[in-house]
Amino acid sequence: MGVSERSDAGFASLGELEALAARTAATDAWTYVQAGAVGEEAMRANRDAFRRRTLRARALADVSTLDLTTRLLDDPVSVPFFVCPMARHGLMHPDGELATARAAARAGVLASFSTLSTRSLEEIATAAPSGLRWFQLYLQPEFAVTRELVERAERAGYRAIILTVDAPLLGLRDRLAETEFVLAPEHALGNGDSVRAPPRVPSGSAGRYTLRRESSATWNVLDDLESITRLPVVVKGVLSGEDAGRAVKHGAHAVIVSNHGGRQLDAAEAALERLPEVVRAVGTDVEVYFDSGVRRGGDVLIALAMGARGVGIGRPLLWALAAGGEAGVDRLLELFAIELATEMALVGRRKISEIDRTLLGELRW
Ligand code: FNR
Repeated sequence: MGVSERSDAGFASLGELEALAARTAATDAWTYVQAGAVGEEAMRANRDAFRRRTLRARALADVSTLDLTTRLLDDPVSVPFFVCPMARHGLMHPDGELATARAAARAGVLASFSTLSTRSLEEIATAAPSGLRWFQLYLQPEFAVTRELVERAERAGYRAIILTVDAPLLGLRDRLAETEFVLAPEHALGNGDSVRAPPRVPSGSAGRYTLRRESSATWNVLDDLESITRLPVVVKGVLSGEDAGRAVKHGAHAVIVSNHGGRQLDAAEAALERLPEVVRAVGTDVEVYFDSGVRRGGDVLIALAMGARGVGIGRPLLWALAAGGEAGVDRLLELFAIELATEMALVGRRKISEIDRTLLGELRW
């Protein structure tokens, strides 16, 4: 099928996807997905950071064959992008994570799944047994519950644990406060009643507030995790060379440079701006991945050129689910791959290992 044809998924280009999903998704669910922290400056900054970047093409470089394959933590994948862990795919489509898992497995794409998935991690694994999957962990108030989640993920064939470290509590999200968003009961969490999402607000008054127990965690929690699992741990939500260094010192196998899609600290810098520093600090010791603001195949290329080994797709995945369910995710992953291949040909790079900083041009503004 040609790129320009409209498939079952209902969209012909990534450019029209967001608007299409906005028309399809339920209003409250849409607000939940789209929301950024507070005034949404961090979310906007993520996009601005991509818009400033330029690339320098190399001409006549024999681009007759393009190879997008690579390895992520030693597992082979068909493309260097992956599905970010995101809560509650069921808000966008009744098949939820099962559709995502099947489509990603079909495409040879790594998919990661949130502690806060609508479906259980075992159901997701069963839906696409051959797919490469990582499990995203939110620390739980009781370490026994954390341990149980990690053990379940290991038993179900997940290949890594992503520990998210930028959410001791949820960022303030004005859009959600304004809509008084309440999750319907059918959107209960698939991983069991004992699983908790990060709390929304600190409790207390008169200037003294306490957060829930798991927010007392320090970097030593990585050592605790290592003592209970053989799986590699990937630390998500790192925005400085310093924190990346701490993660590595405590045994992390990879880090994800991310500001959570601008949903946590509104004054955070664009995640893309922090990527080079993290790569310089730990890029030769561990793999460095990136997410936040990736919307097109060309964005994947930019993040790779800036040193990322893998690049996470966030909201667009949920948009594709809303727009076309499983066929929508098939289409999304196909379009991302075609766009990346196209841009690689245009800059004269035939394989992922040929993408490096020499591609980067001047900033636009
Ligand atoms: C997220 N993200 C997220 N991250 C995580 O570690 N655990 C989670 O449960 C969730 N849940 C979640 C829900 C929704 C609706 C969104 C939009 C995001 C953050 C996610 O992994 C990723 O960092 C961002 O989505 C990347 O930014 P963009 O591409 O969405 O702008």
